[in-house]
Amino acid sequence: MHPLPITDSTRVLVLTGAGVSAESGIATFRAGGGLWESHSVEEVASMAGFQSDPQLVWNFYSERRRGVLAAEPNAGHYALAKLEERLGDRFLLTTQNVDGLHSRAGSSRVLELHGNVCMTRCLVCARAPFSDEALHLDSLPACEVCEASGRDSLLRPHIVWFGEALDGQVLARIDDFISEAGADLLFLAIGTQGAVYPAASLVDVARRVGGSSYLVNLDEADNASQFDHIVRGKSGEVLPQLFGLSSEQSN
Ligand code: OAD
Repeated sequence: MHPLPITDSTRVLVLTGAGVSAESGIATFRAGGGLWESHSVEEVASMAGFQSDPQLVWNFYSERRRGVLAAEPNAGHYALAKLEERLGDRFLLTTQNVDGLHSRAGSSRVLELHGNVCMTRCLVCARAPFSDEALHLDSLPACEVCEASGRDSLLRPHIVWFGEALDGQVLARIDDFISEAGADLLFLAIGTQGAVYPAASLVDVARRVGGSSYLVNLDEADNASQFDHIVRGKSGEVLPQLFGLSSEQSN
């Protein structure tokens, strides 16, 4: 496998999905046995679901929190952190994953499009989202800030649910990176089925500015035809090779 054609002017925009964390033992969504096979999206990943049964939703995210806290980054996460070390500001990582494993592997230019499962925010007040590793199993967490002002309010997971908008500032940073890069852009999607928007359309935006596009995925993705180059395989095995890392560098 040839390393990616990264020159001194190349700017690399990466989009990762659940497949990148599969080798860390975290379940993906759409495969057989994936999370959306055993759970209803409407029940656990929508505001209507939370309003109807907040404990069911907290139990679901508490279990995911438990899984993430027990997991470790894998060779794919580490390879991306190494690439960032080499490229600095010519690198940006956007992830649909909520597991925080990219940051734990050492990546710092990371934008979490769908939130973070180890963060919580208030349903009502404007306090900033905060780190929360507690498991709210069979007990609903209340907001202390609201309680102190005599209001009742529930805390919710800091996750973008279906029907909710992505953070506009995050999207603007991605747009800026793409337009500044222009034809120097190399867009690389990894471990994502390409079924959820707007993430799945980033490849089209990259192509519109004249950038090249690569997909690393285990199975056929829904938007595979949009990519210039496709590498089928496991990200933990493929990425160190694509980034030209020796086996010592990728550990
Ligand atoms: P999916 O579960 O839809 O797709 C994961 C993809 O990763 C599949 O195409 C697999 O073939 C591939 N894959 C599995 N293991 C891999 C490996 N080791 N290396 C490379 N590829 C591998 O997950 P996403 O596309 O990330 O949103 O899902 C996008 C969003 O849908 C999620 O962020 C989540 C979900 O609903 C929210 O919860 C808001």
